[in-house]
Amino acid sequence: MCGIVGYIGQLDAKEVLLKGLEKLEYRGYDSAGIAVRNADGIHVFKEKGRIADLRQVVDSSVVASTGIGHTRWATHGVPNYVNAHPHQSTSARFTIVHNGVIENYHLLQEEYLPHVEMQSDTDTEVIVQLVEHFSNEGMATEEAFRHTLSLLEGSYAIGLLDTQTDDTIFVAKKNSPLLVGVGAEFNVIASDAMAMLSVTDQFIELHDKEIVIAKADSIQIKKLDGTKVERAPYTAELDLSDIEKGTYPHYMLKEMDEQPAVVRRITQQYEDAAGNVTISEDIATAIKEADRLYIIAAGTSYHAGLIGKQYFEKIAKIPVEVHISSEFGYNMPLLSKNPLFVFISQSGETADSRQVLVKIKEMGYKALTITNVPGSTLSREANYTLPLYAGPEIAVASTKAYVAQITVLAITAYAVAEATDFDLKKELSIAANAIQTVIDHKEEFQALTEQFLATTRNAFFIGRGMDYFVSMEGALKLKEISYIQAEGFAGGELKHGTIALIEDGTPVIALATQKDVALNIRGNVKEVVARGANPCIISMEGMEEAGDAFTIPHVYPLLAPLASVVTVQLISYYAALYRGCDVDKPRNLAKSVTVE
Ligand code: AGP
Repeated sequence: MCGIVGYIGQLDAKEVLLKGLEKLEYRGYDSAGIAVRNADGIHVFKEKGRIADLRQVVDSSVVASTGIGHTRWATHGVPNYVNAHPHQSTSARFTIVHNGVIENYHLLQEEYLPHVEMQSDTDTEVIVQLVEHFSNEGMATEEAFRHTLSLLEGSYAIGLLDTQTDDTIFVAKKNSPLLVGVGAEFNVIASDAMAMLSVTDQFIELHDKEIVIAKADSIQIKKLDGTKVERAPYTAELDLSDIEKGTYPHYMLKEMDEQPAVVRRITQQYEDAAGNVTISEDIATAIKEADRLYIIAAGTSYHAGLIGKQYFEKIAKIPVEVHISSEFGYNMPLLSKNPLFVFISQSGETADSRQVLVKIKEMGYKALTITNVPGSTLSREANYTLPLYAGPEIAVASTKAYVAQITVLAITAYAVAEATDFDLKKELSIAANAIQTVIDHKEEFQALTEQFLATTRNAFFIGRGMDYFVSMEGALKLKEISYIQAEGFAGGELKHGTIALIEDGTPVIALATQKDVALNIRGNVKEVVARGANPCIISMEGMEEAGDAFTIPHVYPLLAPLASVVTVQLISYYAALYRGCDVDKPRNLAKSVTVE
């Protein structure tokens, strides 16, 4: 979703900002812009489309060492030049970049700005016009900024320039991620440490409703009431090579390839001194004390949660409910007496999940966040965090994070189980090898995809039990990157309506990795084949049959999703390639969905 960068120092700000924005491209955006400030004033460059398009319109003769930049994922107003950030106040004294959504912007506009002619359709413009309005009424810039912020309802991460305040970036944050990066004679701001890792690895977290007065040689953090806040920087433990594509054509392919290593790394990270997989005592106690776990997540993380429920119920005998975060907060079910909430989120920034976290905390309940980004909002605000150790995931389509989520969920359930009848560490090692086998056969999936999906307009994924949940993930993966309409179904449910959609040649990808239902799913395949479907059966060793498209090596049945999901990831990847889609940056999507 939208990304912010800012730089104040000695270097050419334009280049630092553009490079920073390029590092935020993975978040998803449809327009971009920068504003730089020098003795002549503030120069704004913006463009619909990619950073490469923005580079074309930036005037290289402008020299400036202070600036702010933005990638916009449209919420209020279509993606076009006018709605792209930065936005300026009427007199062009103030220039702003903003992430988030201002819920009361219409009311504020009516109350304070009835005579101001708005240039854009955005909620953001109201913020910058309000700062100008209050400064015209006699407030100093910092006061006008703080007063404006106190009126805003919703979420914001903001960088603001003022032509009349030398070499300063005014910064603020509420419910939207923003960090301040600290350097020698320069400082930066960024939605994500990755954006500025090439200039510093020292970052300061900002809390909600804090502002920052950033200059080249100083950082002042204050609360909205003006009280000063002291906070030391931390070192971002990110390796720049982790966020480079290297020789891979796409991040998604690189990240799929990393999956066996991710499973092995997680197993090592969660090993105790005796070599057993485990989790920290306080988290284990919190889980054991709960009478029910409520898993809250969105998208792929929700699909991982569905698998997690099976682990907690089958391995640890703890009852679990899994909920879509955007629904849960507004339609809360009757809760058990002593629940523990488990938030699963790759980014740790998903606004839909965060609104639930805020609500359940107000209700006095405890939360555990399972995330790839310790230090993210969901991690900071929960009582406990279990990291995924997957390394940065850049492709919008989540692959290695899903595999990491399932692995951590399995370890967690195993760690709190009173008794277990299998060796999880050994089985995870076998699963990692099985994932590698699938990856080593990627050309077969390329050929399969050409045969099944190159020209189709829709596709179905079916499975039963664990395979059903992976089918849902397969369908999400395929539709988000190839734009083929796809659905994941419980095999037995098709005949209750959906089978009406099966026509000659409709691709049906069936997963058959669960012995107890393997024959049933094959029966469901026969039903769709009888109506013209083009079947593609992915089976597991020990239950394969002639004609299956691919057979994954045998893994412990509960861990089958770790390997079977890689088959549907590869199918989706090649389908997107055949269709000429932008694999890593699919249309309309954002990596980190920071608005509700
Ligand atoms: C995954 O491929 C999707 N891009 C999306 O569904 C994602 O999983 C969802 O937005 C949740 O994100 P989170 O894990 O960062 O909370």
